[in-house]
Amino acid sequence: MSNADTRLAREFHEYTKHSYLSVRQNPHWLDFDNQPHPYKIYPDAPELDLPRDFDQPAADTFEAISGTAPPGGQLDLPKLARTLYFTYGITRTKVYGHRRFDFRACAGAGALYPTELYVVARHVEGMAPGLYHFNPGDFKLRRLREGDLGEPLVTATGGDPAVAVAAAVIVETAIFWRSTWKYRDRAYRYVYWDAGMVTANLLAVATSEGLGARVITAFLDQAVDRLLGIDGQREGTLCLVVLGGDAPPTTSMADLTALPHRATPLSAEEVDYPALHRVHRACFLGGEQEVQSLRGAAAAVGNPPAKGRVLTLRIPSPLHGPALGATIIRRGSTRIFGRVGIGLSGFSVILDRASRGIPMDVFARDGDSTLDLYVIVNDVEELPAGAYYYRRGEGTLELLKEGEFRADAGHLGLGQALPGDAAACVFFLADLKRVLSALGNRGYRIAQLEAGIMGGKMYLAAFAQEIGATGLTFYDDDVITFFSPHASGKEPIFLMAFGIPKSRVMSINR
Ligand SMILES: Cc1cc2nc3c(=O)[nH]c(=O)nc-3n(C[C@H](O)[C@H](O)[C@H](O)COP(=O)(O)O)c2cc1C
Repeated sequence: MSNADTRLAREFHEYTKHSYLSVRQNPHWLDFDNQPHPYKIYPDAPELDLPRDFDQPAADTFEAISGTAPPGGQLDLPKLARTLYFTYGITRTKVYGHRRFDFRACAGAGALYPTELYVVARHVEGMAPGLYHFNPGDFKLRRLREGDLGEPLVTATGGDPAVAVAAAVIVETAIFWRSTWKYRDRAYRYVYWDAGMVTANLLAVATSEGLGARVITAFLDQAVDRLLGIDGQREGTLCLVVLGGDAPPTTSMADLTALPHRATPLSAEEVDYPALHRVHRACFLGGEQEVQSLRGAAAAVGNPPAKGRVLTLRIPSPLHGPALGATIIRRGSTRIFGRVGIGLSGFSVILDRASRGIPMDVFARDGDSTLDLYVIVNDVEELPAGAYYYRRGEGTLELLKEGEFRADAGHLGLGQALPGDAAACVFFLADLKRVLSALGNRGYRIAQLEAGIMGGKMYLAAFAQEIGATGLTFYDDDVITFFSPHASGKEPIFLMAFGIPKSRVMSINR
């Protein structure tokens, strides 16, 4: 199996496509008695309480999601606590029947939260260097290894210069079973969308804290898994986020013995999903050279010449938003949209601010991306209802076909009411042939992760303007048919819907 043999990612993508028929011919019932626990617990690892008396991240939401702090920046324990809380902490709790559900700072498909966060602390004031696991359930860190682990991380990332001076590196993993429990093999896509949501918050909070941050997607999987003490099969590393700088260069070689701590099982039994494990391994990178060759390798290709009418988006200037912390606390996926419109400037800000580029190792320049955005407008002031292509970098929407497509939007979003009732839907598409030829199978993961990050930024941009939002899944091939011929040859990666929550429409009308 090699990263270059991209038939594996393509096969997986085909195998996990949803269609109207596939979801009906292959139904799946959820076994609630065997649902994996949402928190990973290391019962015997030393605990470190995170301070809770922190202020909310104060930066303007739009600046925080669309900018980045310059590389570097100092980190201390209260800053780290605030960063972890507003990235993935519990912001709401609901009780349904006898069960309590904790909701997090960012969205997560099915509220299953497969992402786990580990902190490799290198130069964090108030905290000894080492590897820590973050448990959002009790808001504690647990120390799994002691000492500066910079050297194995620098090696695993092919000598990444940001890792070499990082104050801390947040390693994001997925416990696949948490997500396969509901989504089966297709969960491999969901875990990256979910990690993208986490990463979007993390990048925004880091920017607000004045911490340079960078997403690393090219690394030696087995080396990072070994560092964390995970098996790479039931739990695998998805990406790393470098935070801050100023750490002195590592001199010591870490001695990575087996982890002396074990986590408690998440459920009575686990169901295996072999296609997911196969594709995960097919994306592994084998050596330092392969890691280095991916750096900056995903260049954007630019927009094709416009054939349809081009409409200009409207970004208010100056643009001011609420503080990031207030936006994150307010965020929550919209469950029912009222069939009312949103303003052009609100929708323009969502598209523009979320798609200004992500500081990621595979992107050399601002605006590089693996994705193209397509839109169904149901009800956005000043825009004719219809299907559009977002001409990124130009601040325009190209009208592909005009018409009322609420029924199509509802169908494409797996027959759910949300996209049909929404004011607008944004479909994230990738030219997989191009992405896989530039990045190998790894490009498949990166496209899913990028979609999650952009989607997470869109959640924040929407909620900063009191517009509701939700992530959605979709009928793959029908999406491409709908947007063709413009989209032919591409594949859908993710879907987001925006509008006014029905509860708000009803309270306004009362
Ligand atoms: C990747 C992703 C996919 C989602 N897909 C759907 C979906 O198909 N239908 C739906 O109603 N909600 C969907 N959601 C919304 C989640 O159910 C919601 O985020 C989760 O219940 C947590 O609630 P919160 O976002 O309000 O914190 C999705 C969210 C994400 C992040």
